[in-house]
Amino acid sequence: MLDGKKVLFSGMQATGNLTIGNYLGALKNWVKLSDEYMCFYGVVDMHSITVRQDPAELRKRARSLMMLYIAAGLNPEEACIYYQSHVSAHAELAWILNCFTYMGELNRMTQFKDKSAKHADNINAGLFTYPVLMAADILLYQADVVPVGIDQSQHLELTRDIAIRFNNIYGDVFTIPDIYLGKAGAKIMSLQDPTKKMSKSDENPNASIYLMDDEDTVMRKCKRAVTDSEGIIMYRDEQPGLKNLIDIYCACKDVTPDEVVKEFDGQGYGVLKEAVGNAVNDLLRPLHDNYKKLEQDKAYVDQLIKNNAEKASYYANKTLRKVQKKVGFPERPR
Ligand code: TRP
Repeated sequence: MLDGKKVLFSGMQATGNLTIGNYLGALKNWVKLSDEYMCFYGVVDMHSITVRQDPAELRKRARSLMMLYIAAGLNPEEACIYYQSHVSAHAELAWILNCFTYMGELNRMTQFKDKSAKHADNINAGLFTYPVLMAADILLYQADVVPVGIDQSQHLELTRDIAIRFNNIYGDVFTIPDIYLGKAGAKIMSLQDPTKKMSKSDENPNASIYLMDDEDTVMRKCKRAVTDSEGIIMYRDEQPGLKNLIDIYCACKDVTPDEVVKEFDGQGYGVLKEAVGNAVNDLLRPLHDNYKKLEQDKAYVDQLIKNNAEKASYYANKTLRKVQKKVGFPERPR
């Protein structure tokens, strides 16, 4: 609890361009949750370097993600939005937690297995201990809830196990966080292969609608979306491309699939695709406007980055000092 509110932590990597899938599945929920919880949202740039990055590109993307968080509606004066690399407590706690995590546990992580297969030439120790840094992120702020996608639930389980293990030895140091799987958090699929999740790292740019895509691009991608040859607008698993378009429409307009099927009854796919394009553009317009304003106000964003890094450090260091004391590090003379 902080200021009478439960604490929420989540983070996103600054790799790849955010898609409407990230927005509709995660960011939109974060904005909703920010009234109820004391929120910390990290731009987790330390996680990003577990895979080789171009430095200038990483810096640019991290800044862009920071501005997107704000443009999407997170109030940076309430929610603490910050760069993970600006708060050194993350690295310090991660080291300590490494010593309370077993190789066997990390070996079981499916994301590690997937990523090692994908980056066989660079299976570094950071990739292996990635989940421990993630545990540090969460435990530093004594988070009660962590909204993440289902693909992160194994990491969350591990975080809980590490925290429970530590608490069993040293007493109640960490809050045990609950995973928060967004209720109807829309799951948006690729426009080119609707059996795959829409991903910010998809190699086919037509597969994903990026949050910063302009209106023509959005429309073009919607029109090119893969559907089927049935020619009837229905909402069912046998027509995954169509189903996905309907899901996108629903998430943008806050309507139900039934309503959409009724609305477009008897019409061709082209009509629906155009309507989806318009719905996405309506959704993105305010976000683009806000983003442009932030881009023009460098001093304002810089100040926020500084203030929030200080705020995050304050809370993180409180936990870190406690942990350091528990494990037996010498006191710091004042
Ligand atoms: N690993 C998460 C992802 O790729 C990002 C992340 C890092 C995170 N630290 C976190 C998410 C802490 C939630 C809480 O999606």
